[in-house]
Amino acid sequence: MKLDHDLINQLTLKEKAALVSGKDSWYTATIERLGLKPMMMSDGPSGLRKQVGTSEQTNINDSVEAVCFPASALTACSFDRERLNQLGEHLGVAAKAEKLGVLLGPGINLKRSPLAGRNFEYFSEDPYLVGELAAAYVKGVQSEGAGVSVKHFAANNREDQRFTSSSNIDERTLRELYLATFEKIVKQADPATIMCSYNEINGTLNSQNQRLLTKILRDEWGFKGLVMSDWGAVADHTAAVKAGLDLEMPGKGTESVDEIVAAVEDGSLPKKDLDRAVNRVLKMIKNWQPDDADQSGSYDMDEQHEFARKLATDSFVLLKNEHHVLPVNEGEKLAVIGELAEKPRYQGSGSSHVNAHHLVTPLAAINQVRPDATYVAGYSLATDDVNSTAVAEAVSAAKFADKVIIFAGYPERMESEGFDKTSIDLPANQNQLIDAVSQVNDQVIVVLQNGSAIRTPWIDKVAATLETYLAGEAVGEATWDVLSGNVNPSGKLAETFPLRLEDTPSYLTFDADPDEENYREGLFMGYRYYDKKKQPVQFPFGFGLSYTTFKYDDLQLKVGADHVSGSLRVTNTGSRSGAEAVQIYVGNRTSRIEKPVKTLVNFVKVSLAAGEEKVVTFDLDQRAFSWYNPKIANWQLDNGAYEILVGSSSADIRLNKMIELNWTPERPIKVDQRTYIGDLIKQDKFAEAVKQAGLSDIFSKLADDNDPTAKMFQNMPLRAATTMGVSPEKINELIEIMNN
Ligand code: BGC
Repeated sequence: MKLDHDLINQLTLKEKAALVSGKDSWYTATIERLGLKPMMMSDGPSGLRKQVGTSEQTNINDSVEAVCFPASALTACSFDRERLNQLGEHLGVAAKAEKLGVLLGPGINLKRSPLAGRNFEYFSEDPYLVGELAAAYVKGVQSEGAGVSVKHFAANNREDQRFTSSSNIDERTLRELYLATFEKIVKQADPATIMCSYNEINGTLNSQNQRLLTKILRDEWGFKGLVMSDWGAVADHTAAVKAGLDLEMPGKGTESVDEIVAAVEDGSLPKKDLDRAVNRVLKMIKNWQPDDADQSGSYDMDEQHEFARKLATDSFVLLKNEHHVLPVNEGEKLAVIGELAEKPRYQGSGSSHVNAHHLVTPLAAINQVRPDATYVAGYSLATDDVNSTAVAEAVSAAKFADKVIIFAGYPERMESEGFDKTSIDLPANQNQLIDAVSQVNDQVIVVLQNGSAIRTPWIDKVAATLETYLAGEAVGEATWDVLSGNVNPSGKLAETFPLRLEDTPSYLTFDADPDEENYREGLFMGYRYYDKKKQPVQFPFGFGLSYTTFKYDDLQLKVGADHVSGSLRVTNTGSRSGAEAVQIYVGNRTSRIEKPVKTLVNFVKVSLAAGEEKVVTFDLDQRAFSWYNPKIANWQLDNGAYEILVGSSSADIRLNKMIELNWTPERPIKVDQRTYIGDLIKQDKFAEAVKQAGLSDIFSKLADDNDPTAKMFQNMPLRAATTMGVSPEKINELIEIMNN
């Protein structure tokens, strides 16, 4: 990037040092003499948390009124790029009106364990889904003139000891999973800033990680924006600036300034490194500082509320619906049970917390249209303890109802930024209540409010379950929209719901050690693990029901010069309109490497009227077929067979076809002492080569796959052919012939 020499030359060392540290929690430094005004940034991913009053204020809930949109755990279930783009636009409009330069979001870390405290703020266990949705969101925000800070870079997958723990990950897993989301956004959406996370990767603190912040992010991916630290992530500011961090947030006041001034003066921080960071700060301010002349200052929050409602209804996931118990019908007598109906969990806690514009609770929304519905709290969110009087009241209300709607979920005390969970069970009083009520009524509908995957031990006893995650301030209206059938649900799970915590791929290692977080499951995370292990789950990745049904047929594939294009027909075979998220997976049937059965490589959300059919098209680029090979430090694409699988979920594959790719120039195999005899036998020139070397007698016997001795020798490298009586000279001769 070119330096803005004019401006930089006018700055004193002290002013430069001030610019690379935040003025306080939310503003960049002010250089009055040069007319450089402070630029404000604010959380967060699901609505603005613009802090009011002084910036020293510590109450994180004390922010301006803003619309609280659904959390990313829910919006990801929409599988809908367009909706996420619209969400971004709304956030951008709000940010501009509130005179914010940069919005601190989206959070795009992967859900490696269902215990991770911040899963509600993240999208998915699958990097493709995260990358696509978050890129659409980022483009939306930035199209309105506000910048984003994509966070938390990278491998920040747990909350406990998040400031110091080291995420220990092998290179292939890092590239294919944990960095892939950031890579896509950098390349597709050009985010204004990236926020580096607290943790270490393989022993290096991310805020001081030159490989991460400079080599990978800038040199490899071409990132042009600014890197800021997560709040308090900088341990050694000088080391951080050298590594490629541009802005420490929040600044530590004069201490930050003095530290940088001293480092430049004593030579430990090269001036050019400081200038580079200063330049990026100046560029961020220039590009994203709101215009003072723009006096609009207000935006239509009611319209945004309606969008929040739509986004939620388009994302809710119908997990079970036996005998069409949902939607509820006119005239049915309803019992509404569960304190969450009255005090819903509709957003996460921590830095993403929004001072909601207009909360509508499920109870209020239901009461408005069904004033005769009875309501019983049934449990208290404040405790796990069963209250038998409350349960008895719920049971008696359930006895006299046609249908029972139980609201259940994690109370806020169980789930937040800043700490991890220890269980994926609902509090005992909720599970017990569901059991008791389902004994007296067989039309029980459970509505879940939670930030991440939950265990549902009562699932066989209830008639229906609707997953609403943290649905935002329109939670009540949105929930009723789907329960009543005004909206047909079309969300699909963006994470697997395991049967038990013990079944999860990182169960043995997650949070096991305060210092070291070992990603021993490697690539086999989320459905990649359950698929390969054939491990039964409660609800698979990509799963979600509808009030209608869809048929898939006529999969067509065309292999082009550098991409594969495909199409299929989707028909709405039911009696009401609906939308379906069609998922495209690729299975590598070629490379001899560790590999999942399949990975998500595209998805298309399609809306269909009853009886309507549409042809859905998709494109698969080279990355869809590539794997990261650490030995060549690059992506590798192997020629050979690949399976394209089209599913309604990762476990419900409706169509599949094999294709053959021949995109990579053949690399002649280089034979050496380590080459395996079994591999050599498969080479066309082998028979001729052994003849020339006078070794036909020995080697021709080894091709018989029914002979165990032959098979044993196939599994030996050439150098071990001495054990068959071949001299080292002859082995060298054979190598020579094969390589020429
Ligand atoms: C969080 C960030 C957030 C920042 C500012 C940190 O604790 O990890 O996500 O943007 O605070 O509120």
